Amino acid sequence: MSEHLHHDVLIVGGGLSGLRAAVAVHDAGHDVAVLSKVYPIRSHSGAAQGGVNASLGNHPDGGDDTWELHAFDTIKGSDYLADQNRAEILAREAPARVIEMEHWGAYFSRFEDGRIAQRPFGGAGFPRTCYAADRTGHHLLHTLWQQCQKRGIRIYPEWQLTDIVTDAGRARGVVALHLHTGQLQAFSAGVVILAGGGHGRIYGSSTNAYINTGSVTAAAYAAGARLEDMEFVQFHPTTLLGTNILISEGVRGEGGLLFNNKGERFMGDYAPSVMELAPRDIVARAIQTEVNQGRGFEGGYVQLDIRHLGADVIKSRLPGIRQIAMDFAGVDPIETPIPVQPAQHYSMGGVSSDENGQTDIDGLLAVGECSCVSVHGSNRLGGNSLLETLVFGKRAGDHAVSLLGAGTDAGADVLGGALARREQSIGDLSNREDGERQAVIRREMQEVMTDHVGVYREEAGLGRAVSALAALKERYRGVTLDSAGSRLNYDLIDTLELGGMLELAHVTALGALARTESRGSHWRTDYPARDDERWMKHTMATRGPGGAPELAYDDVIVTTYEPMERKY
Ligand code: FUM
Repeated sequence: MSEHLHHDVLIVGGGLSGLRAAVAVHDAGHDVAVLSKVYPIRSHSGAAQGGVNASLGNHPDGGDDTWELHAFDTIKGSDYLADQNRAEILAREAPARVIEMEHWGAYFSRFEDGRIAQRPFGGAGFPRTCYAADRTGHHLLHTLWQQCQKRGIRIYPEWQLTDIVTDAGRARGVVALHLHTGQLQAFSAGVVILAGGGHGRIYGSSTNAYINTGSVTAAAYAAGARLEDMEFVQFHPTTLLGTNILISEGVRGEGGLLFNNKGERFMGDYAPSVMELAPRDIVARAIQTEVNQGRGFEGGYVQLDIRHLGADVIKSRLPGIRQIAMDFAGVDPIETPIPVQPAQHYSMGGVSSDENGQTDIDGLLAVGECSCVSVHGSNRLGGNSLLETLVFGKRAGDHAVSLLGAGTDAGADVLGGALARREQSIGDLSNREDGERQAVIRREMQEVMTDHVGVYREEAGLGRAVSALAALKERYRGVTLDSAGSRLNYDLIDTLELGGMLELAHVTALGALARTESRGSHWRTDYPARDDERWMKHTMATRGPGGAPELAYDDVIVTTYEPMERKY
């Protein structure tokens, strides 16, 4: 067993939130390290396309925009489940965080006058989404990566988190597995910040990368942190037929139109005042309804048409989308509409945390998609997730610094004990001879989630999902490995991660079954109305003593905006 390594602040996750938090800690003069399951510039933040919201008012139609209107759009978009004080922070701090990225060298598309270009996005009253063509996440991620490199911030790339170590209700560090060697290592830290991204891969059809397994979220849940609002899952309306690669909302922001198999621009039936630029939950349901009622194309899709934009606009503002459509669907959008269908895209739920990232566990913060702050409530607006990483990444880093010194010394014995337990459990798994392969259980979980916990939900299907997931958890206890090696053993990693994914899927399905209303992304065909009296509440899930999730409910924080009917 090796000695544990120590950092004042250890960040788990090398995407935008993790790197932004790292810069904040470093700039306050403290030692910080980032541990990431992939090399950080391969993080899923880099796949974000359409943009980042800030009320800069640069667009000719955006002059009267304010952060208050951005906050209002976010809260209305959330179907009034967002904590309003936090949505206000998100919107108020947005301009500073975006301009800071510009000053750090981030590439943005620009208007003629040189100011950052902004495009319309769904559910937004003004064109406030700043963008870098259709590769915004890529450019922001590379900029923050350069800032980390410049500062010499310590990175542990390709290390898989296995455990968050706590003692007397306080996080003391983590245990992680080095993918190159198979070595397990304990890290102590004054503060641990979780920034591990979402868990979209609990679904079969998803825009998410294969790395989006929620391993960090599951580790926090196993350590006793509560998960919040997990039943709220965003289905992006426009993903490429078959592969479900993201086809950015920026395509509709630039003027893309949706058509059914009758050649009708069907959004007029669902959101007549904003059409294709309704919030994602509404557009996803509209497409799914068209398909379910026989007005989709064979294979279950509708058409996204941008031919009228012309080759110049498509090539300059949507070059990545054009390439994806040509490479993966064989269509050039300059000449042919893109076949699109909804698929899982974003996890609104996650580790419950406050506006500084603080979770239920002292010394443990969470930020970005793995967290639930909650600024998105039951439906996130496009362009607000990149923003969340920058605003709350900085805040979590600042808060971590303020916590240092408050009983944050790690006990070597508690870390050693956790390391030994993990070595033992991996040894037991490796020595097990007869059992099922993890991939079989994973596929069944993904099918259950896609079939029963999707855009439309109802009691019988959700009940089936909950029972099936409980049964899969039982089967998982007997899983065996095919591969015995220690170096880059992805059979082992996938198997370890699957245990956590099953927990997250179970919490999601259970929360959806319990919530007998329709709100934002959670649409119950058997309860089609929003029910503020009973359900304007956050779902809080804890791992019960026997391992089954236990649900409780917390109030939503309301500051200024009284809930009203959500019409577009
Ligand atoms: O559609 C998109 O470009 C995705 C943006 C987002 O998820 O915020």
